[in-house]
Order: sequence, then C-alpha cells, then structure tokens
Amino acid sequence: MMKFASPLIDEATIEGVADVLRSGHITSGPWVVRFEAALSLFCEGRPVRVVTSATAAIEVALQLCDIGPGDEVITCAQSFFTVLNMIVKQGATPVFVDCDLVTRNIDLAAVEARIGPRTRAIVPTHWPGSLADMDALYRLARERGIRVIEDAALVIGSRYNGRPIGAIGDITTFSFHPNKNMTSIEGGALVVNDAEEARRVDVLRFHGIERLPDGTRDVGFPGGKFNLPDVNARIGVEQLARLPQFLAHRRTLVLRYFERFPMRFGCVLPPRPGDGDGQSWNMFCILLPHAAAPPRKAFRDALAARGIATGVSYEALHLTRLGRRYGYQRGDLPNTERIAESTVTLPLHAAMSVADVDRVCAACAEVLDEASR
Ligand SMILES: Cc1ncc(COP(=O)(O)O)c(C=O)c1O
Repeated sequence: MMKFASPLIDEATIEGVADVLRSGHITSGPWVVRFEAALSLFCEGRPVRVVTSATAAIEVALQLCDIGPGDEVITCAQSFFTVLNMIVKQGATPVFVDCDLVTRNIDLAAVEARIGPRTRAIVPTHWPGSLADMDALYRLARERGIRVIEDAALVIGSRYNGRPIGAIGDITTFSFHPNKNMTSIEGGALVVNDAEEARRVDVLRFHGIERLPDGTRDVGFPGGKFNLPDVNARIGVEQLARLPQFLAHRRTLVLRYFERFPMRFGCVLPPRPGDGDGQSWNMFCILLPHAAAPPRKAFRDALAARGIATGVSYEALHLTRLGRRYGYQRGDLPNTERIAESTVTLPLHAAMSVADVDRVCAACAEVLDEASR
C-alpha cells in the first residue's frame, strides 16, 4: 500500500536516538536547547520554543495572547480541528470565514468584514503551494491592535517575499507530526516576538510553574504540560538539517503531478508551482469535479483497491457538531464546504519516487474514466 504521508528517518538519526536513550537524560534537556537554537536560526533569530504538538503550540499561543471568555478569534473554517478546539478550549468564540477555492487560504475581505469590538486575534492556516497575503493580513491586524497566530503546520520551509515563514509576523506555530515536512515523531513549535514572550511560554508549557528566589515554586495560572522530550528533539535537529533536501524532492514530485495528472475530467488542482516561488509542498490536494466523477468515498475506495492510500484535508470546521454550536449552517461558507465535500489528498512524501506519482496519476485516470463511462 502506498501511504499518503510517511516520514524519512535515516540510520544516523536512529543511532542518535539510541545515544540519547543511553545518556540518561531523556526528557527535555540539551537536545531541546539545540533544537530551539536551530529553529531560531532558521527563523532569522526570532525566539522559538518547542512543545509536544502544534495543537499545544496553538493552545499556548492563545494563552500568551490572553485570549479567554468574551473574546472572538477569527479563523478559516477550511483547516484542521485543532484551531476550532483550542479557541473553544480557551473559552473564546470562534468566528469562521471562508477561503479561496484554489489556494484554500483565508479570505481576508471576509476577515475584515467580521472584525468587531470583541475581536482579539486572527488565526490563519497557511496552505502548501501558496501562503496567505501577509502584507494585507498584518495591515488589517496591526492597525487595530489584533494579535495574529499563523498556523504554519503545513508550510515549514515556505518563503514570503524571500523570507522564511516564522521570520516575519507576530506568532507562528509549526507541527512536526510524521505527516509534515519534517518530524520529531510528535512535536510542535511557537515562534514568538521577544525574550519576555519566550519566558512566558516556558511557564505556560510546564504547569504554569514560576520559580521563586527562595528556591520554592508557585503557580498563578493552570498551565499545561507540553515540554518536548530530548528523544524527539534529537530527531527534530536531524530532520531540520535535511529539510531543504526533503522540500526539493517534494517539489519534484509535485511538478510531476502537474505533468501527469489527468486534467480532462475537470478536477481542480492546487496552484501550479512557479520558478523560484519559495513555496513548500506538504500535501497535494485535489478537488473532484461536481459532475462526472464518482462520489469521493467511491473514488478513494477505488484507489485503495489499487494499493494507494489517500486522505481528506479538511472537513468544514463550522459544520462540525462543535462548530454548529456557534450558529453556523450549511451554505454559510461555500468554498470551505465545496472543498470539504470533494477534496482528496493524494500521496506526497519524501520517501516517494517519481514513478510512484506516475502510478497514482494512472490510477486516478483509470478510476475517473470508468466513472465517466
Ligand atoms: C493545519 C494544521 N494545523 C494544526 C495541526 C495540528 O498539528 P499537531 O498534530 O502537531 O498537533 C494540524 C495537524 O494535522 C494541521 O493539519
């Protein structure tokens, strides 16, 4: 079975993990410090703190921005459950807006229209192949004193105006789950603005504990437990060093998808890569056409029967049972809903070959062809 996502862990990393296990220091320690330093260098020197997942990073980021009951957070409904869950977990109200049908990035005109007196933050999810318009986004946010938490789970390694995601902006969060551009098994990170914010993250990610001058400890906030173990950080350091190589290979595979994917059936593909566009490719998500295509489940089953695994990214957040509690209904966000109904994530990962892409494209052609007869 060809997986739709799979990490590439080399023997040196496995040996390195064994060394960490033998060292006796297996929870957060020197490798966390090294991983954070390497990520900070990657983000042009901005402070970075690692945590156990991007979900934890978004939770801590919302806490860092003092988001709570009575506050509204504007976010895109075409994203992973994390964003909705963490906003609600803080006691804040999610305000959903739609996305572009092709790039899937947040609709900034809709964001502007939904900003109100209770808006405290905007949480856009950046998409592989194309980033949200950061100039327009920060113009909107900064002139109104609204915080921005960029969910960059899918795009570590993408560049905006030549600069890496994470080097610019307010707060940026990354995921190192095994299906992302690089992994630490589970893991995530937040890029913050200054040393004081980094110090507050240190507290928020470890029980809310503050150390007092007399050697005792105190808590003034019910903090979580999100510190990343050294075993994971050891993997992350190696993966970050290999990220350029992973991204170059992913790009080669995407270019092949654009060469070989059968376009005659009316599927919508992501934005075509341009020379030197600086975009990274974590996923290759297509939209099945409305007509002359099998229903998505039949399409995915037919690919699975041919040994090809696929995914769905993503369901519509405003139509989840949790999202509907805030008064949303079908028809509110048409692009998000069209994507949620007909998107399919095709295999794309650094362990795949160009021949694998050809196999996926041939299988898609076969299945779509059979359905259109
Ligand atoms: C867009 C997006 N944001 C956040 C997350 C959460 O990442 P993690 O699994 O590291 O918590 C995911 C996970 O797939 C994601 O796809």
